[in-house]
Amino acid sequence: MPQPLIERYREYIPLEPGDPIVSINEGSTPLVPAPRLSERIGANVFLKIEGANPTGSFKDRGMTVAVSRAKGRGAEAVICASTGNTAASAAAYAVRAGLTGAVIVPEGKIAIGKLAQALIHGARVIALEGNFDDALLIVRELAERHPIELVNSVNPYRIEGQKTAAFELIDELGGPPDALSIPVGNAGNVTAYWKGFQEWNTSPIMYGFQAAGSAPLVIGAPVAKPETIASAIRIGSPARWEEAMNAFNSSGGRVAAVTDEQILDAYSWLATNEAVFCEPSSAASVAGLLTHGLQTIDGMAKPETVVCVLTGHGLKDPDTALGTAPSVISCANSITAVEHAVFD
Ligand code: F0G
Repeated sequence: MPQPLIERYREYIPLEPGDPIVSINEGSTPLVPAPRLSERIGANVFLKIEGANPTGSFKDRGMTVAVSRAKGRGAEAVICASTGNTAASAAAYAVRAGLTGAVIVPEGKIAIGKLAQALIHGARVIALEGNFDDALLIVRELAERHPIELVNSVNPYRIEGQKTAAFELIDELGGPPDALSIPVGNAGNVTAYWKGFQEWNTSPIMYGFQAAGSAPLVIGAPVAKPETIASAIRIGSPARWEEAMNAFNSSGGRVAAVTDEQILDAYSWLATNEAVFCEPSSAASVAGLLTHGLQTIDGMAKPETVVCVLTGHGLKDPDTALGTAPSVISCANSITAVEHAVFD
């Protein structure tokens, strides 16, 4: 039986003694070798398949801890701003905890699978005429005004849960990877991995990648109107800005940008070469390595073992898949027609 991550890493997660464990058996996700990618990058590359979490993204790691604490302190409702995955995860864990959930998403800018998830779990889904950054400002204020638990990654328990992904890497590889490559949006996940690595006294090189149209950390200033096909990381003002920059700088890594075209190329390439279907935002971690290589600062050894974090499942965003992949072949109902369709 898979173990809830709170049980697997109990001593490292600062829940209170009476807190319930609100879990859907998240974590313990596959770490898959990527032989063809390894060849292209010139290192031993592994893919951390976070889409294998119960709601299809890494958010479940943070949500199990944040919602357990919320329940433990007697909250009756949870709220978040989201580009989709946090919404899906919050909606599911709210059900598990018997809480009500409200999620605020940028109108028309979240992938259809994520919307379906939030709705089917019964959350109140509010489409804001604004972007993620606007939504986050609003929910922060609402959580001050009302007895409702904010479960965005500004909530420290989210980070405590998400850091377990770093523990799993160390466990499975028998030590830390030399480098980690990760997509960056609100910058909670890179903060969490770095915290996890630091707690085990390790410091892999941290490479973060943002979409070129939404790359505040790369340009060094907030982006008022972020744009990218990678809707999960369409964020102009990351909440954990300083912590993310600290992770890049103190590990000898860096944050860089990748274009939508580079993201989509990596996205299709992974599906057709490594048999891994992730969402476009996740593919930014691979696009970044393919575009920028394994850059190191002077005197640092080139990383040999590299993990790319694939943050969410490709099924979340079927529209992008269908818009990117070759078309279906229509066929008349006869053996010869099928023969031509298959073999020509
Ligand atoms: N990848 C995916 C699939 C995401 O959903 C997110 C963030 C990120 C990467 C970036 O992680 O924000 O911790 O730097 N999604 C959030 C959401 C913002 O609302 O679902 P980050």
